[in-house]
Amino acid sequence: MAFRVYRPYVFPDTIAPEIAKELKRLGVKFEPELHEETDAIVCLLGVKVDAALLGRAPRLRVVSNVAVGYDNIDVAACTARGVVATNTPDVLTEATADLAWALLLAAARRVPEAERFVRAGKWKRWDWTTLRGADVHGRTLGILGAGRIGQATGHRAVGFSMEVLYTSRQRRLLFEHTTLARRVDFKTLLRESDFLSVHVPLSKETRHLIGAKEFSMMKPGAILINTARGPIVHEAALVKALKSGRLAAAGLDVFEQEPAIHPGLLKLENVVVLPHIGSATDSARRRMVETALRNCLAALKGEMPPNAINAHALEQKK
Ligand code: DGY
Repeated sequence: MAFRVYRPYVFPDTIAPEIAKELKRLGVKFEPELHEETDAIVCLLGVKVDAALLGRAPRLRVVSNVAVGYDNIDVAACTARGVVATNTPDVLTEATADLAWALLLAAARRVPEAERFVRAGKWKRWDWTTLRGADVHGRTLGILGAGRIGQATGHRAVGFSMEVLYTSRQRRLLFEHTTLARRVDFKTLLRESDFLSVHVPLSKETRHLIGAKEFSMMKPGAILINTARGPIVHEAALVKALKSGRLAAAGLDVFEQEPAIHPGLLKLENVVVLPHIGSATDSARRRMVETALRNCLAALKGEMPPNAINAHALEQKK
């Protein structure tokens, strides 16, 4: 039996032979358009999967997101139609934590600003006061949301002799054991962190979780890092906090209205901006596609996908 899979983006990576073989065996045909006969969707986070889109594909069994975050998918609407939604956890954890650290170090030590300074021909002599930044070693890293990526980011802090604080719905005992991290409440995290790294998923509860009030509670001179989702941080309030000097700097890989960035942020020297590249390494991206395809294939075969977000959707369909 052949399956028709809507795949709006062509992934250039070579995938494992057993996956390619299985796709062939099942007669999976990838198509650039969604239509009434579509059985599955394999998509990136730029594709908004809502009730309207689902309504156009009555045969749909699975929405396989090639991302760990799935705020682009209306999961409740999928469940109501018996469509299973899946994501790609684990395979991008370390790559994203690496990037959080790239931002942290770049923002603290003013790396992009220093590079701009050199390229602009402004470096005339070694100078005592030029481009002084913030110490990283020995300071306090606050992890907002100690899931997989939050914990991986926290683990790296051990090498910098940092104190690690975290918030999480559950206690993370192994994480505490390996990093000596302390679980605290949100307010304490804001008050005590020199670096605050955001790792919660975007949801109704976390949209604008960090705004003017939260910035006013943070340590003067703290640095904000966001590799999670842009709308968790109120960008206009962030601009104010950075301009006023309340925050020393920010390192951002994600934005409220990607790819647009608040113009106020782009005017500031003390902000490092990246184009949402947390998972952008060859191996992470290849493994994300493979994970998404495995999820998709499982659902097409009537099995439970390894990374089902709404496993109960399949019950609905029975
Ligand atoms: C994700 O997976 O959610 C990232 O934001 C993109 O890789």
